[in-house]
Amino acid sequence: MRIIKLNAIDSTNSYLKQLSMEEALVDNTIVVANYQTQGRGQMGTVWQSEGSKNLMFSVLKDVSWLHADKGFYISMVTALSIIKALERFSIPKLRIKWPNDILSENMKVCGILIENVIKQNQLNSTIIGIGLNVNQTGFSNLPKASSLRLISGQVFVLDELMLEIVAQLTEYVDALKAGKYQEIKHAYEKLLFRKDKPSTFKDAEGSMFSGFIKSVSNSGNLQVLLEDNVVKEFDLKEISLLY
Ligand code: BTN
Repeated sequence: MRIIKLNAIDSTNSYLKQLSMEEALVDNTIVVANYQTQGRGQMGTVWQSEGSKNLMFSVLKDVSWLHADKGFYISMVTALSIIKALERFSIPKLRIKWPNDILSENMKVCGILIENVIKQNQLNSTIIGIGLNVNQTGFSNLPKASSLRLISGQVFVLDELMLEIVAQLTEYVDALKAGKYQEIKHAYEKLLFRKDKPSTFKDAEGSMFSGFIKSVSNSGNLQVLLEDNVVKEFDLKEISLLY
C-alpha cells in the first residue's frame, strides 16, 4: 500500500489516473486530499464536499484478472466494503441505492466514482473514488444528503475510516478474485434500497413509472418488475429511482 496525502487537488480520481499513466504504481496506491476543487460525481456531475471535514480519496486496484463483462462487480464490492466498514463504526440502517450510493437512514452519506483503465482492449486497473460525508453538519442545497456526524452525533477521525474501508476493500476484492460471484451479488442485492418495495422511477424522457426492484444483472443493469408482470432491465442512463 502507498498513501499519497495532498492538501488540495482538482480531483483525487483525476490525479491518480494521470499518475497511473506516468508511472507503474503498486496495487492499493491511495490518493487522499483535504480539498478538491473539481470533485467529480457519477454521470458528469460535480461532487461538492466541505474540505477537511469529509473523506475524499481514490484507490488504485489491479483488476487485470477480472473479465470485462464482470466490471460491475467492482462497484458491488466497493459498496459492500464501505457498508461493512461503516457498520464497524456503528452507523445505522445502511443501504445501497442502485447503482452505488450509500445511504444511512435513507439519506446519502457516500458516493462512489469508479473509472476503469482499459489497456489493449482489456480491463487493466480500476480507480475507485470515494466521497464520504463525515463531519460536515450542513447540506443546505442537498436535501437528500447527510453525514455520519449528523446521523450518529459523533465526530470521526477521517484516517481511521479510510483505513477501515481500504482493509474491507482488500478482503472483498480477494473474494472477487477467488470467484465468489454469487455470494457478492447476493450480499449486494440484500442491501439494495427499496428492494421488493413499490418504487417510482423516472425515465430519460422524464416520464414516471412504478415497479418493484428485483435484482441487478452482471453488467449492473437494474431489473424491475413492472405492472404488467414483466421484468425489464434498465441501465443508469435510462432511469433514476425517485422513491
Ligand atoms: C457520486 O455520488 O456522484 C460519486 C461521487 C464520488 C466523489 C469522490 S470524492 C473522491 C473521488 N474524486 C473525485 O473527483 N470523485 C471521487
